[in-house]
Order: sequence, then C-alpha cells, then structure tokens
Amino acid sequence: MELNIENLHKKYGDKAILDIPLLTVEEGKITGITGPNGSGKSTLLNTISGIDRDFHGKVSYNGEPLNKDVARNMTYVFQKPYLFRRKVYDNIAYPLKLRKIHKDKIKELVDEVIKRLEIADLIDKRGHQLSGGESQKVALARALVFRPKLLLLDEPTSNIDPESIKVLEREIVRFNEETKGTVLIVTHNLDQAQRICNDIIYLNFGRVSD
Ligand SMILES: Nc1ncnc2c1ncn2[C@@H]1O[C@H](COP(=O)(O)OP(=O)(O)O)[C@@H](O)[C@H]1O
Ligand SMILES: [Mg+2]
Repeated sequence: MELNIENLHKKYGDKAILDIPLLTVEEGKITGITGPNGSGKSTLLNTISGIDRDFHGKVSYNGEPLNKDVARNMTYVFQKPYLFRRKVYDNIAYPLKLRKIHKDKIKELVDEVIKRLEIADLIDKRGHQLSGGESQKVALARALVFRPKLLLLDEPTSNIDPESIKVLEREIVRFNEETKGTVLIVTHNLDQAQRICNDIIYLNFGRVSD
C-alpha cells in the first residue's frame, strides 16, 4: 500500500506537533522514521493509523481515504502493546479469527509465525504475564500473521535483547520481501534503520528534514 501525506498539520493546544507539506511512503518498501524524543514520530503513526483523527490535511492510502478496506489491511504495533488476558496463541490468532479464516488454516499460520519469531516458549502464557519485550514479540507476531499491506511499527525492538532484535529484524525484512507489504517503522536506533530500511525519514520538531 502506498501512503501519501499532504499538508498535514497537527497541534496539541497551541503547540505545533506535526507540519508535513508532502510525504510519500512507497509501496513495498521498508521506510524508517527516526528523530529525537518528542519530534512527533508516534503522533505521525497515530494520524496515519486513524487512531488520531484530530488533525488538518490529507492522508491517503493507494489514493483512497481511510475506509474499511484500508483499515482491514493495515495494522499498528504500539511501543507498549495491548494484549488480551488470554493465551498468547489466542492473541496471535485473533486477527485471523476476525477475518473468518478457517481454523485449520489459523493453526497453520499461527504455528508458522511462532516458529519464525522463535517464541514457542511463550505460547502457554497469558497476555498480562509477559514482560515488555515479550509483549512486543507477541504483538509483532499478531501483526505479521495476517499479512497486512501496511504495517506500522513504533519502536518495535525498544525493550528487546540483542539476540532477539536480530530475529525480529530478520522477520520484518522477510515479511516485506515475501508479501511486498509496506512497512513504516519508527526507531531511534539509526543503525537499525540503516540495516533494514530502504528509505529513512528524519523528523525534527514535527518537520521532515534531509
Ligand atoms: N496527548 C498529548 N497531549 C499533549 N501533548 C502530547 C500528547 N502526546 C504527545 N504530545 C507531545 O507531542 C510531541 C510529540 O510526541 P510524540 O509523537 O510522542 O514524540 P516521539 O514519538 O517522536 O518521541 C511531544 O512534545 C509530546 O510531549
Ligand atoms: Mg514515540
């Protein structure tokens, strides 16, 4: 899915948080968003995902406004993910159930993503029993499992140990290569952005800089 932003203005009170005249996120690529704390990275993902509608300007998705079809094909993994108090397996299966996938197929897809993300040791735990880093892994699995056309990730490895970071980066890249899904990933780790991203957007005080 291609993303186009035109004249995006977002304020909190009197304070301008985002001011982006024009920005295109190309289809099928991994685009990084980086910049200092408070530069508006999470706010930008909030506006793109539709959870924050209180802004001026236009965001379009393959030329369309945010509609049901767009929403169905997009997902947003928060930095502090919200998981259900159910088993990890059920958390990951949830987007597939929502899309009425047959239960045999659900099992196949969930088992595969669990294997790929190397989280088999977590499947019998419940959502609220996980550490911050474990929750991030499960939330990423829940996002990848239904093969979204637009994947929004907010610092998905911020609580993750170095070995697991390698696994997550590998799987984000593999997802992108296999499905051609567009990935927009916020990271303040420039090395990470350089490792996995095709393009990098620098945000500073809510503006895109070169
Ligand atoms: N709900 C809110 N109310 C008021 N100000 C907010 C709110 N959320 C974020 N901000 C402010 O907006 C700016 C950008 O925040 P954010 O997008 O979270 O930055 P980043 O993700 O780049 O660290 C910061 O100055 C932050 O304090
Ligand atoms: Mg943030």
